[in-house]
Amino acid sequence: MTLPGSPFLSYRGQELFLEDCSLNELAARHGTPLYVYSQAAMLAALAPYQRGFAGRPHLVCYAMKANSNLAVLQTFARAGCGFDIVSGGELERALAAGADPRKVVFSGVGKTRAEMRRALEAGVLCFNVESEAELEVLSEVAVACGRVAPVSLRVNPDVDANTHPYISTGLKGNKFGIAHERALQAYRRAAELPGLSVAGIDCHIGSQITAPGPYLDALDRVLDLVEAIEAAGIVLHHLDLGGGLGIQYTDEQPPAADALIGQLLARIDARGHGHRTVMMEPGRSLVGNAGVLLTEALYLKPGEAKNFCVVDAAMNDLMRPAMYQAYMRIEPCLRRDEPAASYDVVGPVCESGDWLGRDRELAVRAGDRLAVLSAGAYSMSMASNYNTRGRAAEVMVVGAQAHLVREREAATELFRGEHLLA
Ligand code: LLP
Repeated sequence: MTLPGSPFLSYRGQELFLEDCSLNELAARHGTPLYVYSQAAMLAALAPYQRGFAGRPHLVCYAMKANSNLAVLQTFARAGCGFDIVSGGELERALAAGADPRKVVFSGVGKTRAEMRRALEAGVLCFNVESEAELEVLSEVAVACGRVAPVSLRVNPDVDANTHPYISTGLKGNKFGIAHERALQAYRRAAELPGLSVAGIDCHIGSQITAPGPYLDALDRVLDLVEAIEAAGIVLHHLDLGGGLGIQYTDEQPPAADALIGQLLARIDARGHGHRTVMMEPGRSLVGNAGVLLTEALYLKPGEAKNFCVVDAAMNDLMRPAMYQAYMRIEPCLRRDEPAASYDVVGPVCESGDWLGRDRELAVRAGDRLAVLSAGAYSMSMASNYNTRGRAAEVMVVGAQAHLVREREAATELFRGEHLLA
């Protein structure tokens, strides 16, 4: 049975390896919970995007909310990527990792004036504006600091991405983007505001999308708008089709990025838009299968209705199961030749929602280490300090080399900045 993340993640004998590093050894050396990422797997995930766009004006902006560790950002910056950011904090991270600000797009429904100012000073490529009210504020801020803000409007194509409701964003009922019917009017306003220059158009319909259909439907809707906007005399330079391509957690079969891009470019060409720069903002598909979360089994707790395997990682380390009932595979770092039993794998946090996996067949004993697979995206980046738990350490492997890229958070760091009453 192949593992999501293969060929970089595989058993050698009974021992699970990421690239040429034994995960059991890394857990012993650095402690658990521990995130481990494969640089080769990230670059291998980027390659089909680059292949798909080869020979065309394009920009792949890694959606860094998926995993914003500096070494991850550095890996993508060096590979030529731009970044999709959604906060001032992400902008500072991207710059600290060596990102070129002229390859940064700034998305998000709630940018503050301070964030806008900082992004203008840094010289980002484009603001992906999500409402008419934001257009007014951005223009005002730009004028006040003597700059012109390049803008793209995020339009909501009202297309169903067929994914989990929490990560579906392109439907009318979502808070994201400007409604299709209002887009032309919003572009007219953008074109007359003194602090703005219209650069492009963008959309993002959701995440963990496993079929090309929703992308093609959204593209058609966006191209209809492009034609209407240009007929009104407003020139658009780029098309940004967002992120959202799914990965394999279990048996999903998402299209390969190059195949998807091939279909999108063919549709763009067929409708006479082949001269435009095409951008995408992938997050999960670049990092999701490149990472694992390692955890140690603390206690086995057999029960009448259920057996529990209590591990040292919890919902604060990995929120996806609790938040979306997400299924993420769990495999032992060292396989045992013993009969398996069914366990709910749960963490130490005081919530019934604190589980990492349910009804998992595992041959496990206390002290064994387990790996939660496909944990490179929206895992560490969504971690919290709930229950005053320090966040996990992170390691990036490059071949047989393992680099500690984030230290484990110590308890004292968690209340630094808090004050007792006088
Ligand atoms: N662009 C925009 C404007 C976005 O909002 C997102 C993700 C992306 C790009 C990247 O999408 P991706 O390629 O990663 O699917 N925490 C959830 C996923 C939330 C996605 C939020 N937006 C999860 O764990 O499944």
